[in-house]
Amino acid sequence: MTTLLHIDSSPLGEASVTRRLTGEFVHRWCEAQPATRVIRRDLQDPPPPHLDEAALAAFWNPDAPAGPDSRVVLALSDTMIQELEGADLVVLGSPMYNFTVTSTLKAWMDMVGRAGRTFRYTEEGVQGLLGGRRAVVITARGGFYRGGGPTSGADHQTALLDTYFRFLGMDEVMFVHAEGQGMERERARTEEDRARSEIRRLVSAGAAGACL
Ligand SMILES: Cc1cc2nc3c(=O)[nH]c(=O)nc-3n(C[C@H](O)[C@H](O)[C@H](O)COP(=O)(O)O)c2cc1C
Repeated sequence: MTTLLHIDSSPLGEASVTRRLTGEFVHRWCEAQPATRVIRRDLQDPPPPHLDEAALAAFWNPDAPAGPDSRVVLALSDTMIQELEGADLVVLGSPMYNFTVTSTLKAWMDMVGRAGRTFRYTEEGVQGLLGGRRAVVITARGGFYRGGGPTSGADHQTALLDTYFRFLGMDEVMFVHAEGQGMERERARTEEDRARSEIRRLVSAGAAGACL
């Protein structure tokens, strides 16, 4: 049985492109592999807190968190890490905001990237502790960044998420981009359809047990 962790980070509801596309991925995946268990994490409901002094004190000394605020943040961080640990496949929706991820998603990354829990420092360097897991990141952007065009250097979202998940030890990190969402309607829809085709391809490969 596969356990799939479905994460969304767009503040928009039905109007969100990434929410539509992660929903499509999860729906098709579960159709192809009905034994899948889905864990849901909506980063808008509620948004993870930004790290503060109390949170960091709790992360660095989890056996003796100082005060109720630290305990609350530590418990949330532990829960979100357990969701990742329990998953074989992470499906993440990530809107591009100001050339990178939303602050909500960044707050989640800060909550789950914890030394001693999801990665550790060794004599040989950093070791990610989430091996054996795969991630599919579905992005939406107003403009175009792929294909080495003039704006490709401004995509600070793909490299960040790829580096981050690999840093945590994940074996495979795949991206589906729905670009051009700020363009005229027809163009935006064509690009969303292109992303849907890519999702169908990934789901079929996964259902066949191949690399996604
Ligand atoms: C605050 C904000 C910042 C944005 N920044 C960028 C950007 O830097 N580059 C870009 O191509 N699109 C940008 N966009 C457009 C979004 O990436 C696009 O609308 C995308 O569809 C959002 O994903 P969602 O529909 O799932 O919410 C921005 C949109 C908002 C609201």
